[in-house]
Amino acid sequence: MSRPRIVVTRRIPQPALDLLAEHGDVWLSPHDRPLTREELFDAVKGADAIVCLLHDAIDDEVLDAAGPQLKVIANVAVGYNNVNTKAIESRGTVWFTNTPGVLTEATADIAMSLILMTTRRLGEGERVIRSETPWVWSMFYMLGTGIQGKTLGIVGLGLIGQATARRAKAFGMEIIYSGRRQADPAIEAELGAKYVSFDELLETADVVSLHCPLNDETKHLINADRLAQMREDAYLVNTTRGPVVDEQALVDALRKGEIKGAGLDVFEEEPKINPGLLELENAVLIPHLGSATIETRTEMGLLAAKNTVAILNGEEPPSPVVRVS
Ligand code: GLV
Repeated sequence: MSRPRIVVTRRIPQPALDLLAEHGDVWLSPHDRPLTREELFDAVKGADAIVCLLHDAIDDEVLDAAGPQLKVIANVAVGYNNVNTKAIESRGTVWFTNTPGVLTEATADIAMSLILMTTRRLGEGERVIRSETPWVWSMFYMLGTGIQGKTLGIVGLGLIGQATARRAKAFGMEIIYSGRRQADPAIEAELGAKYVSFDELLETADVVSLHCPLNDETKHLINADRLAQMREDAYLVNTTRGPVVDEQALVDALRKGEIKGAGLDVFEEEPKINPGLLELENAVLIPHLGSATIETRTEMGLLAAKNTVAILNGEEPPSPVVRVS
């Protein structure tokens, strides 16, 4: 039997490539950048498996370009707004997998970092030092906001939301959360987390941290009206996907002082950044680093590889999103 053709759209950690290579002929993109559409169509031709990254748009055209032998698309990310799962589902022959769990702690670390960076003005402080702007310690110099005893509003208490809440609790914050459904009572009890409506969360939280996936319902979930509902002394943190926030509305709200600050790891048109954000001292901006640790990226690659190998071997994959029955 011929070995399956496994297409990897951009380099992933070596242990993952090694595992894939044991089970098939791996085609790895030679470019250290996302493939263009045309390159992607060419690359996937005849593939049994496609291992893709969050910047690859996977849709009907890609499925058609691959051909009917395609068995699995493995996204090396937990979020899969880049993938048209309905198109995959409707084929009935292609599995789709993601990488939940392995990036929970790393992403929560970044959410907590952004909470601290925004409330304690760390980006601003760093800019003062690096620009050699004169400064001198004083009782009132660059005062931030303490988070102890303040309320963190988690939008979406999934794994990453829970891990962020756990950290915030250790920092002395109270936790409220909103979402489509109420969490397990054991999780609520562990975190001391209170389920509230989205309105109440926005109106009362000192820090709002977004942990919902991006989909049709959550695109621009945070818009001008929602920002106006937040307290003037509140902060917004986004580590999920950029389009969950209407970035221009956020720029306007920060300019007008409708909220006090924002910490963003993700952007609406990554890697393009709204120029308005760049002018704002009270916006902390980091380049999509949520899962960016050596350990986590290795685990993500390995999980995608294990999903791929399991499906090629006719076994149950560890983390399916779309199944073939
Ligand atoms: C990273 O952003 C992911 O969704 O895995």
